[in-house]
Amino acid sequence: MEFALFNVVGIHFVLKWLHIFFGIMWIGHLYYFNFTQGAFMAQTDAPAKSQVQQKLLPIALWWFRWGAMWTFVTGLAMLHTASYTGFSLQGDWGVKILTGTLLGITMWFNVWFVIWPAQKIVIDNAKNVAEGKPANPEAAGAGARALLGSRTNTMFSIPMLFFMVAAPHLPIAMDMNNVTTYWIAMFIVWAALQFNGMKGKLGPMTSVNGVIACGFGLTAVIYLMMEIIL
Ligand code: HEM
Repeated sequence: MEFALFNVVGIHFVLKWLHIFFGIMWIGHLYYFNFTQGAFMAQTDAPAKSQVQQKLLPIALWWFRWGAMWTFVTGLAMLHTASYTGFSLQGDWGVKILTGTLLGITMWFNVWFVIWPAQKIVIDNAKNVAEGKPANPEAAGAGARALLGSRTNTMFSIPMLFFMVAAPHLPIAMDMNNVTTYWIAMFIVWAALQFNGMKGKLGPMTSVNGVIACGFGLTAVIYLMMEIIL
């Protein structure tokens, strides 16, 4: 009797199953924050808002950031196991998966080093104010930083998922002689958007429709870069 799970293909598969489980946990919360909670907060009164910040945000952010961490860990593990299942980082699979991975790791970085530190300031401030202590003048700026980082991640999530799933499922013929040019172009687009996500402006990402449109637009830009350059 042979067990399908007890070999490297099975291990890769279990990692992928866990990866998608944690990915849903993470991106589900990201979309909840951006599509649902933001609209609620914009129309609610100050006491309800404070309750959300003090009691709901810490719980939601716990699932959010640990979902991100384990998506990241299982993703890195799969980059390793994939080489035993016939995939090569040197081929077209590699270009697609590394494009998705670049966006995914950037999003993981933004969760842990941009959004979470900023949200901690917002949560602590809400608790202090509720206890009658003075408000932290930095809280508004921290909230704005968290929003920009979160919107940037929402935009990145759309092409991230496209290229992650395209890697094994959408064959794209590529001329690997031009791969350096592709990565230079990709790096410029990525760096500009990530720099904006840390220091720039919301622009069209201010609205939910806007950030979704940016995500689909970015997917089209990267896809066309891949087809035209490679
Ligand atoms: C954080 C960094 C991430 C890394 C390093 C990473 C890496 C990977 C790798 C190496 C694979 C295996 C692809 C294959 O077997 O051909 C994969 C698959 C996958 N990833 Fe990620 N990933 C990351 C984030 C995410 C996120 C946030 C999601 C969102 C839900 C996601 C969704 C998926 C899906 C759905 C697959 C299955 C693709 C398929 O077989 O069709 N990944 N990822």
